[in-house]
Amino acid sequence: MIRKSGLSAVAAAGVLSTCLFAIAPLSAQAAPTAGTVVAPQATKAPDLATATLRQLAAHTGMKFGTAVANEPLVDPDDPTYAQLAASQFDLVTAENVMKWDTTEPSQGQFNFAPADTFMAFAAANKQTVRGHTLLWHNQLPAWLTEGTWTKAQLLEIMRQHIVAEVGRYKGKIWAWDVLNEAFNEDGTYRDTIWLRVIGPDYIAKAFTWAHEADPKAILFYNDYNIEGVNPKSDAVYAMAKTLRAKGVPIQAVGVQGHLSTEYDAPDSMPANLARFAKLGMYSAVTEADVRSVLPMTPAKRQSQANGYSVMLASCLLEKKCISFTVWGFTDKVQWVPGVFEGEGYAALWDDTYQTKPATEAVRRLLALAPNGKPRGPKAP
Ligand code: G3I
Repeated sequence: MIRKSGLSAVAAAGVLSTCLFAIAPLSAQAAPTAGTVVAPQATKAPDLATATLRQLAAHTGMKFGTAVANEPLVDPDDPTYAQLAASQFDLVTAENVMKWDTTEPSQGQFNFAPADTFMAFAAANKQTVRGHTLLWHNQLPAWLTEGTWTKAQLLEIMRQHIVAEVGRYKGKIWAWDVLNEAFNEDGTYRDTIWLRVIGPDYIAKAFTWAHEADPKAILFYNDYNIEGVNPKSDAVYAMAKTLRAKGVPIQAVGVQGHLSTEYDAPDSMPANLARFAKLGMYSAVTEADVRSVLPMTPAKRQSQANGYSVMLASCLLEKKCISFTVWGFTDKVQWVPGVFEGEGYAALWDDTYQTKPATEAVRRLLALAPNGKPRGPKAP
């Protein structure tokens, strides 16, 4: 269950945007010497009115992504879903089809057909892929959760699953969410089948096996409510520091970014991303959305725009923040109403594919951000 970060703090986005925009002219211009003629700078900035998000993001060096669901991609009554998924984003994450209940529905019997369909869509549209997710406590098959396992058995089940899935897409996936949501809000380990049967060692093993299966993939720990500095992100930071000191290949932290207009913005997000960067780690916003209690009002729409802006600006400001992914791009295909009764309107496009103040805020931030080198390792 996703708790809330949130964002009544309109000011935060303003402060971040100001910092961000202040950087642009400094890095873009050299001081002219006396007598020289300063030619107008060639600007490759795309046209704000017509450019897609992936075009607007390209000059920043940061990838801009979305989660994609398989079913609507082939819905003959809704060609807009596939069109926007293909045209607006240069990075995609499978919303569900790479999770354990789909990929290993019976023990040792792998079903990669839906994931292959998703991979083919990404390849056809020249999109980089984030793999999501190898270990989680949700969307596990019944044979796994209802079985009785010794520590050795469950470790072997875990190893085989990781090796099979990562191995299948070796060289095709830029980054993997190896471990998802392993902490409680107070920073203690979440009680999962992995922790109960194996103990905390399962974490190091998972990253080690994933790295062996695809040494070039960027390996992420991914969680919600770790955007800012708080007890949960402190615990993730401590875990990452300890594991990295032991040589475990945990290379990046994914802050999911499930916000709500009911709660304060994660104002300490730049500081949080910076401390992971100091550890030598990449970061990414992996599942951004900003939901509201319905009905919407102009103030809530503006608050939503600020939520997206705070997260995007924080990522743009931290050069080791390599990508920004929204968890679904339309309210038509969005997980929030199924989990939070009476809430919704969380995506950048509404359920009839109309844009919102948040869409425009994101587009402006991308357009105004300074040019930057490609972030993170080269995509396959
Ligand atoms: O596939 C079955 C289908 O056979 C069945 O008929 C139908 C009936 O409800 O359910 C379908 O499964 C649903 C599945 O999505 C695929 O559509 C599940 O009920 C539903 O619970 C599941 O929800 C997903 C949720 O994770 C599960 O926890 C959401 O789509 C997905 O957006 C969401 O994503 C998670 C990230 O992976 C991790 N972080 C939080 C994020 C939001 O919860």
